[in-house]
Amino acid sequence: MLVPGSASQSLAAALAAETGRSLATPEYRVFPDGEACASVPEFAGEEAVVVAATVSNDALVELLQLQDAVREAGASSVTTVLPYMGYARQDRAFEEGQPVSARAVARAVSTGTDRVVLVNPHEDGVADFFAAETTVLDAAPRLATPLPDDLADPLFLAPDESARGIAAETRDAYDRGAVDYFEKERDYDTGAVTIRPSDADASGRDVVVVDDIIATGSTMSEAVAALVKRGPERVFTACVHPMLVGNARTKLATAGVERVFGTDTVEREASAVSVAPVVADAL
Ligand code: R5P
Repeated sequence: MLVPGSASQSLAAALAAETGRSLATPEYRVFPDGEACASVPEFAGEEAVVVAATVSNDALVELLQLQDAVREAGASSVTTVLPYMGYARQDRAFEEGQPVSARAVARAVSTGTDRVVLVNPHEDGVADFFAAETTVLDAAPRLATPLPDDLADPLFLAPDESARGIAAETRDAYDRGAVDYFEKERDYDTGAVTIRPSDADASGRDVVVVDDIIATGSTMSEAVAALVKRGPERVFTACVHPMLVGNARTKLATAGVERVFGTDTVEREASAVSVAPVVADAL
């Protein structure tokens, strides 16, 4: 039985359709003191697949509760699908005294599950932090699906070197176009991003800027601002995890982005394609 976290209800429904598994209807309560209580009233002695993007601290607590609730209800096994793993980008202590938050989260999640499935967790090495058996999935090829069929001489551009692979996979799935990348530096105190453009020729072309995640939108908007000076025809952005926090959408629109394409690992208006087929294959 699939058990959705409150932030992954559409993905869980898509997975139910894809796999033919039944879908539990959890209740997500919050007590007056702010404490959550996620429960699974009708769960009965089966294999449980908890699908929960940990997009917030509340969603993380909810996931731990759902894992516990299905065990309490007699689940024979628990698989935890983290379509988006919050804290994955804190995969090391960047300054003295900092925690390795991804490891702390992984330890907590591991206590309630037999198996973990991660979708594009920023760095695959995060999987090593889990005590349970962990599978890492790559949904980047799905990003080609919602792109317009008529992209003109497309250029798939990574805003930094670490996104080159995702940009190349998107291009390969689209089956047409070139790949290039910019270089990025981030000031970790202010969050400000500086982009050093390559000499990519964008003039008259449709450009798709591809990254694993758009969070504040700083990386994408700086990359797009650098691109727009080169006279592209249209600029799209594509990412696996459309977190789009705060004023990210406005930053992207102001920079000149025509449309943002994301997947449903994070359920947003920009979630134009589902990762359900990729996750279904791994279950
Ligand atoms: C960093 O290396 C990631 O791949 C993303 O580029 C980054 O996390 C995006 O964050 P933001 O949208 O806040 O710039």
